[in-house]
Amino acid sequence: MAETGKNIDLAAELLLKGNLVAIPTETVYGLAANALNEKAVISIFEAKQRPFFDPLIIHVPSIESIDKYAELSDLRLQKLAKAFWPGPLTLLLPKKEIIPNLVTSGLASVAVRIPNHALTLELLKKINIPLAAPSANPFGYVSPTQPEHVNSQLGDKIAYILDGGVCEVGLESTIIGIEDEKVCVFRLGGLALEDIEKVIGKTELRINNSSNPVAPGQLKSHYAPKKPLFVGEIKQLIEKNKDKKIAIICFGEKNFEGKDLIVFDLSKNKNLQEAAINLFKYLRLADDSNADVVVCEELPETGLGRAINDRLRRAAG
Ligand code: TXA
Ligand code: MG
Repeated sequence: MAETGKNIDLAAELLLKGNLVAIPTETVYGLAANALNEKAVISIFEAKQRPFFDPLIIHVPSIESIDKYAELSDLRLQKLAKAFWPGPLTLLLPKKEIIPNLVTSGLASVAVRIPNHALTLELLKKINIPLAAPSANPFGYVSPTQPEHVNSQLGDKIAYILDGGVCEVGLESTIIGIEDEKVCVFRLGGLALEDIEKVIGKTELRINNSSNPVAPGQLKSHYAPKKPLFVGEIKQLIEKNKDKKIAIICFGEKNFEGKDLIVFDLSKNKNLQEAAINLFKYLRLADDSNADVVVCEELPETGLGRAINDRLRRAAG
């Protein structure tokens, strides 16, 4: 188990020495290392058992600090940066020489984010280096939204967990970049499409669902629990699995008929923000329960519902 606490000085010292530290963000916990130290970056891939072709996001404390690492020259992306940073938005920007190719898996662009979490912003200001941080889970599993999630799976591989409590958004950042001169969304996430389009108008969805994606990291099967998981119309799914012990992840209060049901309601009042906060916690609890299968209700395809459905479909593989 890793030491857990709120000691920013200790976290900074460990990171500057090349160690791994788990950091809280508003989206999910990140597994952080000094992005400019190749050896430290390699240890991220090793701890997560993540393939080297899947690039990392760098985290910085302010828009001004980006200039050293990447080019934020596109006016539309500048608008988004001003509107939503710090926040659950990641921008793909042309990278500068100083960022190791290892961080970007050899791509010419680097993913950049200013996270909205007081502890981590203070840490980033203090160390004055960018932190490369993927979600702090083993590759392909559900992302962590509280320190205990990190500790139970990666605790023996990291030096320290900076404890920032439960993540306030609960879904990874929305990833945006430019392709063919168009603003494209490469991952749905904690910033809703509707909010983005209010600022820059229509965007193009380029979400990859293949098992061999062009944009890395969008593998069809991801967020995968150990148990079989199904997504769809909830009552039909329960009927289909009636001979098994079922864990249900639903959205809004309902009465279910059947024996041996374990029910996790993402939000009794059908609030999408609340559902986002609970999603990964309930996926873990359902996976760790004594159920044989997990069945999940599809949410409305609007606001954060889109990103939640995307996670559920990938979890189903
Ligand atoms: O909210 C988040 O984004 C969290 C917190 C910790 O910041 N981080 C996160 O990182 O979700 P990760 O590594 O689990 O997901 C990052 C995604 C991956 O799918 C990766 O392939 C994609 O971003 N990515 C990173 N750099 C990229 C690049 N240069 N071009 C295209 N995709 C990139
Ligand atoms: Mg991840």
